[in-house]
Amino acid sequence: MRVAIIGGSGKMGRWFANFLLKEGKEVIITGRNQRKLLDAKRQLGVKVATNVEAVKSADAILISVPIDNFEEVVEQVSPYMRPEQVIIDITSIKVFPVETMHKHIKTGLTLGIHPIFGPGARSIASQNFVLTPTNERERTLAQKIREYLEIRGAKVALMTPQEHDEVMAVVLGLSHFIALVSADTLLSFDKLKQMEAIGGITYKVLLTLVESVISEDPELYASLQMSLPNMTEVEKLFQRRGKVWVDLVKNRDKQEFVDRMNALRSRLEEGNPDFGKAYENMYKIVEGL
Ligand SMILES: NC(=O)c1ccc[n+]([C@@H]2O[C@H](COP(=O)([O-])OP(=O)(O)OC[C@H]3O[C@@H](n4cnc5c(N)ncnc54)[C@H](OP(=O)(O)O)[C@@H]3O)[C@@H](O)[C@H]2O)c1
Repeated sequence: MRVAIIGGSGKMGRWFANFLLKEGKEVIITGRNQRKLLDAKRQLGVKVATNVEAVKSADAILISVPIDNFEEVVEQVSPYMRPEQVIIDITSIKVFPVETMHKHIKTGLTLGIHPIFGPGARSIASQNFVLTPTNERERTLAQKIREYLEIRGAKVALMTPQEHDEVMAVVLGLSHFIALVSADTLLSFDKLKQMEAIGGITYKVLLTLVESVISEDPELYASLQMSLPNMTEVEKLFQRRGKVWVDLVKNRDKQEFVDRMNALRSRLEEGNPDFGKAYENMYKIVEGL
């Protein structure tokens, strides 16, 4: 089976090229910058082509381009797609790419997928994937892909593109936002080196979150903040909640602070037998770095 990866010279494209090659698939990659593309060709030992040539010659197509380039790529390749071809996008949002594929691709079968991991992932085992089929044919394809991924140890969830984007506004959007604002706050203090040297596990977890976000691609993170639905509402809610806690501290309202913290604990404990292990898990994360 030959898989064309549009954007195969990029970070996730290379990751999937490597994965598919190890799975015994033939891979052909594309990219805009020729030097980068040839570098990926050398590194991966795969063929390179233009987007149209790659699509014409492939059985399946994986689109791994930034959100902002997605529609131009789909428009460009859609006239060359054949009915038996499968086209999968791995964009980190799902409503826009899935609607765009449906709008332009009239032959072939499409499916939106979101791998919830970055290009640093060492293997597919234990990684999360969300598949977003929207009709019977896509559901049948999603079921096959789910089995394929689960046999290899991945965890797979199926949901609508809308549900995916709503969930991701919190899972990715809010987490990234907290990391960015935390970085901005931390860097307002001097003695950061000293803090790091003597900081305990909670501080190390905060630094890990901050570093893991700040070291990523700002273009991708900006696109996510601007594309995920209701991001402003989510972040305003965070600010409102923040103000409540700021006021409790400012007013030295110890009892209300304790009551609220206990109430949050009770809610998190509900139906979660592993709740008490969170601190233990933090040690594992930090010590495993
Ligand atoms: N990075 C992550 O952690 C992550 C995780 C899950 C999903 N994703 C999704 O994966 C996709 C790719 O992300 P990435 O991090 O791999 O980005 P990236 O490193 O910037 O790679 C994007 C690739 O797309 C190529 N490209 C852009 N426009 C193109 C066009 N018109 N024709 C052909 N190739 C084109 C780029 O080529 P040039 O560089 O030559 O322009 C580059 O090779 C995004 O949709 C992102 O949302 C990313």
